[in-house]
Amino acid sequence: MAIELYNDGQHQCLAFTDLVAGDGVQANQFLLIDGAHEALLDPGGDLTFTALSMEIGKHIDIRKLDYLIASHQDPDIIASLSSWVSRTDARIVCSKLWARFLPHLLPGYMGQQVSSRVQALEDGGADIPFGDSIIKAVPAHFLHSVGNFQFYDPVSKILFSGDMGASIVEEGADQPVEDFEAHVPMMEGFHKRYMCSNKACRLWANMVRGMDIDMIVPQHGRSFKGPEMIGKFLDWISTLECGVDLLTQDNYKVP
Ligand SMILES: [Fe+2]
Ligand SMILES: [Fe+2]
Repeated sequence: MAIELYNDGQHQCLAFTDLVAGDGVQANQFLLIDGAHEALLDPGGDLTFTALSMEIGKHIDIRKLDYLIASHQDPDIIASLSSWVSRTDARIVCSKLWARFLPHLLPGYMGQQVSSRVQALEDGGADIPFGDSIIKAVPAHFLHSVGNFQFYDPVSKILFSGDMGASIVEEGADQPVEDFEAHVPMMEGFHKRYMCSNKACRLWANMVRGMDIDMIVPQHGRSFKGPEMIGKFLDWISTLECGVDLLTQDNYKVP
C-alpha cells in the first residue's frame, strides 16, 4: 500500500514500505509525481518488481514513466532494471561510476538500446528536470557506495537519502522516528559497517544542514521528520566512527 509523504494535488511523493516478501531486507521504494510526469526512485530487485509495478499501476500508467532513478548499484536498488526497461521508456539516472556497469543487469540484446536512455550523473550532481520542478541529485559518495547520490525534492522538501539513515526494523517502516535514542540501535550496526568513514559522514551532514529539508527518508526503515529529529540524526552521524575508522590489523589476518 502506498504511503503519502506529500500531496498538494499537483505534486505527490508516495512511499512503498511493505513490498519485500520473504528473506529480503525490508526496503522502501518511492514514486514521485508532478502533474503528468513520474519518477521511480530505487525500485529494487526482482523481489519487488511485480508487487511494485502493481502498486504504482494504481497511480500512473507505467508505460509513461519518465525516470528510473538509482541512488547506487545495489541489488535492492536497481537489480530489476531489465523488467522496467522492457516495460517503460523511462530514462535511467545514476552515477557515471555505475552507468557503465548497467549493461551487466540486462540481456545483451537490450544493452545497446538502453545506453541512449541512461543519464550518467557527474560527481557534483545535477538538477534533473521534472514536470514543473526538478529533482536535485545530491552527492553522497562513499555513503555507502563510491558513486552514490541522494535525491532532493524541492517541492515536498524531502531528501530521499538512500542507505544513509537506514534502519533495520521489524515493523513501523511507514512511520517517522519518534524516540531517537530508542532508534539508534536499529541504525548503529548498519552505519558502522556500511558507511565509509566519519569524515564522509561529517562532510555530508554539513552539506545537509544548509539545505531546506522537512523530511529525510531513507531506503530502509523509518524516516526523520521535522527539524528536531533531523538535527538529532545529523548530530549522531557527524560523530559516529564507522567504516575505515574502525579498522585494525585484526581485520586483515589470513584465516
Ligand atoms: Fe546499498
Ligand atoms: Fe539499501
